[in-house]
Amino acid sequence: MPPAPSPRLSVVIDTDPGVDDAWAILFLAAQPDVEIVAVGAAHGNVPTAVAAANALRVLDIAGLDHIPVAAGHPTPLQQPLRTSEFVHGVDGLGGNAGPASLRRTSQESAAEQLVRLARQRPGELTLLALAPLTNIALALRIEPNLPRYLRRVVCMGGAFRVPGNVTAWAEANSAHDPEAAEEVLRAGFDLTLVPLDMTDHAWADDIWLKRIADADAPAARFASSVLDTYVALYSSTRGTVGCVLHDPLAAAIMVDESLATYEEHQVMVELAGHTRGATLLDARKFTVSHGGIPDQRPPVRIAATVDAVTAMDRIHHALTA
Ligand code: BDR
Ligand code: CA
Repeated sequence: MPPAPSPRLSVVIDTDPGVDDAWAILFLAAQPDVEIVAVGAAHGNVPTAVAAANALRVLDIAGLDHIPVAAGHPTPLQQPLRTSEFVHGVDGLGGNAGPASLRRTSQESAAEQLVRLARQRPGELTLLALAPLTNIALALRIEPNLPRYLRRVVCMGGAFRVPGNVTAWAEANSAHDPEAAEEVLRAGFDLTLVPLDMTDHAWADDIWLKRIADADAPAARFASSVLDTYVALYSSTRGTVGCVLHDPLAAAIMVDESLATYEEHQVMVELAGHTRGATLLDARKFTVSHGGIPDQRPPVRIAATVDAVTAMDRIHHALTA
């Protein structure tokens, strides 16, 4: 028998489920061209242990109960843990996480898992980072050549020309571990950032959400059941019913890069003062650096426009198929 064709994208997900993380996993689980190789759980929306338990639950619901989940580091590198249950619900899944998975997390840490897999499959794996970058920074400390072992990294994170969503300047995934974000952004990965500037366009309004709620599919049923706290929070801040699908949009862009256009810039993360966690880019068109980013770090790709209508259609299709 000929060998099975290999999937176009083999992905390790680092995630803090979290409602939109859960949706991103369900979206990816429905992509025929995507192999989810493993999941690392991160602190962020909830503590790491809760994120790991939720990742196991979501994979089970997606029929991917063979995919390992490794728990990551419990705290940011240099600041106390701050979580966002007021956005995602007491259990990170709107209070509706349901029974725990019968499975357990792996013995290794998320950072160890990522390094092991990257060494085993050099140049093959894409990392989809949907959470604070603590686990990725720790993986870099284990294996400084990680950027050469991974094919590509796609990160949901940062805010450049829009306000932050944790502070006036800082987006959650960079605000929850600025040192880790800074280490990852300067490390030399082939890295695409999908910042808040783009994910703010992935707005699921009440009509779109009702189409998911009415669908007779297990993924759609679960996705709808975890939404209450998340939709209430976004509806109150936007003044209209709906929510933003940050992480599913990053996943959709990872699967199909043509959903976005990109700019390339050096990016750094502010580590001090009241702008701590802000992502700064050097937008100058010339290379002589005066008063800019203080080293020769490689540029990263930043999604600059997005076809949110097509992306939202694909997310809808994936959850309801
Ligand atoms: C990011 O922070 C988390 O709340 C979401 O899951 C997403 O990854 C948005 O800023
Ligand atoms: Ca997330």
